[in-house]
Amino acid sequence: MTYENILIDYQDQIAIITINRPKALNALNSATIQELTHGFHELAADSNIRAVILTGSGEKSFVAGADIAEMSEKSPIEARHFSQLGHKLMNLIETLPQPVIAAVNGFALGGGLELAMACDIRLASTNAKFGQPEVGLGILAGFGGTQRLPRLVGSGRASELLLTTDIINAEEAFRMGLVNRIYPKEELLGQAIDMAKKISSKAPIAVQLTKSAIVKGENLDLLSGQAYEAEVFAQTFSTEDQKNGCKAFLAKTTTDYQGR
Ligand code: CAA
Repeated sequence: MTYENILIDYQDQIAIITINRPKALNALNSATIQELTHGFHELAADSNIRAVILTGSGEKSFVAGADIAEMSEKSPIEARHFSQLGHKLMNLIETLPQPVIAAVNGFALGGGLELAMACDIRLASTNAKFGQPEVGLGILAGFGGTQRLPRLVGSGRASELLLTTDIINAEEAFRMGLVNRIYPKEELLGQAIDMAKKISSKAPIAVQLTKSAIVKGENLDLLSGQAYEAEVFAQTFSTEDQKNGCKAFLAKTTTDYQGR
């Protein structure tokens, strides 16, 4: 597939996906959502890739939401399909084998915040802004925002953001646990790459199973989550990486994990 709205770059075993519609502040139209879905499917199948970074192009926006121009004339049936298209992408990112880091380099509004919330880790630049403006447009957050935001920050804070449409800055997002870290704009991508490299240096199967236990566990009660954890813990003991990693620790040396 030839991409017109996204770029995919590779650095060692890291992939960097950049949403590239800066003139529309990287708003998500259907074509962009489809390209992202295709790109993430390709990365999921690429065993050489150990971590993914998602960011936006241009100086001021990660993603300013779903594309309002495209959305405005939709019928209720088309709107349901559009919401489902968004859900499919968000769920694909959330269940991607590899961890995904959102490098939020500006506005993360509406579908942009929903996209960031589908990622495992959110890093923000000091100029980042977060919000769910949908009810101010007569619609509601349709790419998972009503579901993921309460899970991430609690229903009180989520309700305030979703119902008032207030836009918060990176500091406030950090205080409520919506972002992990804040960096000056020019350092953001480098810091995201460093974090992705750190993750890539760990045992890939253990990393992927840890991600899956976290994501699955969020929708399970504690005992069911622990049952899943015991299963994936056991699985790591069938890998060469477990043997080599533990042996290297005991021998006071290191090992290059092969993902086997
Ligand atoms: N969809 C389509 N185009 C958008 C857009 C969006 N979500 N956000 C910005 N743009 C376009 C603007 O129309 C403008 O285009 P033109 O130059 O052709 O006029 C261009 O991007 C630059 O935007 P502004 O001139 O508005 O830039 P600004 O710096 O003055 O304001 C902003 C920035 C505050 C982010 C403002 O653009 C804005 O409020 N954008 C909309 C944010 C929003 O409401 N997002 C939610 C969308 S609905 C949604 O996401 C639903 C869902 O959950 C599925």
